Amino acid sequence: MPTRRVFVIHGCNLDLLGQREPEIYGRATLDDINRDLRALAAELGVEVDFMQSNHEGDLIDAIHNCRGSADAIIINPAGFTHTSVGILDAIKAVGLPTVEVHLSNIHAREEFRRHSVIAPATIGQISGFGADSYLLALRALAARLAAEAPQ
Ligand code: DQA
Repeated sequence: MPTRRVFVIHGCNLDLLGQREPEIYGRATLDDINRDLRALAAELGVEVDFMQSNHEGDLIDAIHNCRGSADAIIINPAGFTHTSVGILDAIKAVGLPTVEVHLSNIHAREEFRRHSVIAPATIGQISGFGADSYLLALRALAARLAAEAPQ
């Protein structure tokens, strides 16, 4: 069985993590999060790769590029969570198991953040555990991929 590959997509404004509203999003930078994901991936025996963009179309292209190059997706669509039918459709189009993550608990915030347009295309959402949301998502996907693998 080849090593399973998880592609992690970070949406808009997440390049500023660590400096951006740290009381909401914490002090960890995107590099910190990616480093911790890489360490956990090694422990779990999966591969991870990452991208971040502030542009909706680039995020959609990254989702399309997962066809044939990844087995699962972790995505924090950030602000696009609440608006992007394009990202919803892209996830549906590629048909890969996808987990939506949020650092903050979007359900405990402003009304407009409580609805995710993306959620119907995902196998689940992890929201509110800060940088650990990503690690929990990776654990969940690694378990899902292992369960699907032929014995
Ligand atoms: C976020 C929550 C979104 O509402 C917000 O627009 C973000 C980050 C989070 O990780 O908590 O940029 O996705």
